[in-house]
Amino acid sequence: MNSLSIITPDDWHLHLRDTPYLEAVVADTARQFGRAIIMPNLNPPVRGCEDALAYRERIMAALPPGCDFEPLMTLYLTDNTRVEDIEAASASPFIHGAKLYPAGATTNSDFGVTDLSKLGRVFEAMQQHGFMLQLHGEATAPEVDVFDREKVFIEQSLERIRRDFPELRIVFEHITTRDAVDYVRAADTNLGATITPHHLLINRNAIFQGGIRPHYYCLPIAKREQHRLALVEAAVSGENRFFAGTDSAPHSVPAKESACGCAGIYSAHSALELYAEVFDLAGDFTHFESFMSRNGADFYGLPQNQGKTRLRREAWTLPASLPYPDVGLIPFRAGEKLHWKQVVDD
Ligand code: DOR
Ligand code: ZN
Repeated sequence: MNSLSIITPDDWHLHLRDTPYLEAVVADTARQFGRAIIMPNLNPPVRGCEDALAYRERIMAALPPGCDFEPLMTLYLTDNTRVEDIEAASASPFIHGAKLYPAGATTNSDFGVTDLSKLGRVFEAMQQHGFMLQLHGEATAPEVDVFDREKVFIEQSLERIRRDFPELRIVFEHITTRDAVDYVRAADTNLGATITPHHLLINRNAIFQGGIRPHYYCLPIAKREQHRLALVEAAVSGENRFFAGTDSAPHSVPAKESACGCAGIYSAHSALELYAEVFDLAGDFTHFESFMSRNGADFYGLPQNQGKTRLRREAWTLPASLPYPDVGLIPFRAGEKLHWKQVVDD
């Protein structure tokens, strides 16, 4: 197989940041994807509809001319999110869910939810309006081992949310463990999951290979090889509740290469090619289009994209660094070789 043509894919989990960083990264995603769910963890976060619509306008203004990329906005849930915020957001054609960051779980999560029981009425409203809950599924109690946070979140929180709100539509984002794959499979059709290219391509050894490698540090952190293999198997399986979400999360070089470096991997530069690499290594492209372009849209109840995107087998080397305000941005797999390349029509 030397070329692939798929329905234009979508990225169901993306960080674009804000001006002037937004302008540096948005074209990478718009070149490859028709739509993306835009994470609301700005500082301050995107808490209400007005914030989301204003952020959407800034994204639209930052797009290269003539490009028909569509940002799908989400609200950032806090302890103070109101039922009225959910009602207004669910009536907007531009807002497609609300994101739960447990407070302290990751970048800009300080405004996140401190106690799930505070969100009872909000979850109820979301359930009633069919409004999607996007989950950063990691337990934050300091005594929980960093590699166990996803598993513990399933046991202590996700199970409870699903029991109390059985009709709530939930995307368990950036899953990293066999436990999460098994849990999603065993659940009913209201639970889906996104999988990133980096969690499909690296295990936790990558973070420590020959020294500490800050550009492989993200949250949830990469796990053991057996977990990576379970993720690959789920992605390649074509099962309709697993779909692409890059969690591409740019941070400047000094923010990454620091005594306390930020979590986040920038994969948007070549996300499509990285996913193609995964399916190629697995030796099975049968369900590539489902994972990239069908399953997520179906789960979100949105139409699949109209256009087509093509890739061809071609060895090329990723740049060592990309432009980013003042400093550089190091993409995932910087300076390394990939074997598939998007065919961009002039
Ligand atoms: O690695 C991560 N980076 N995980 C997240 O959940 C947030 C993201 C970011 O915003 O940098
Ligand atoms: Zn994220």
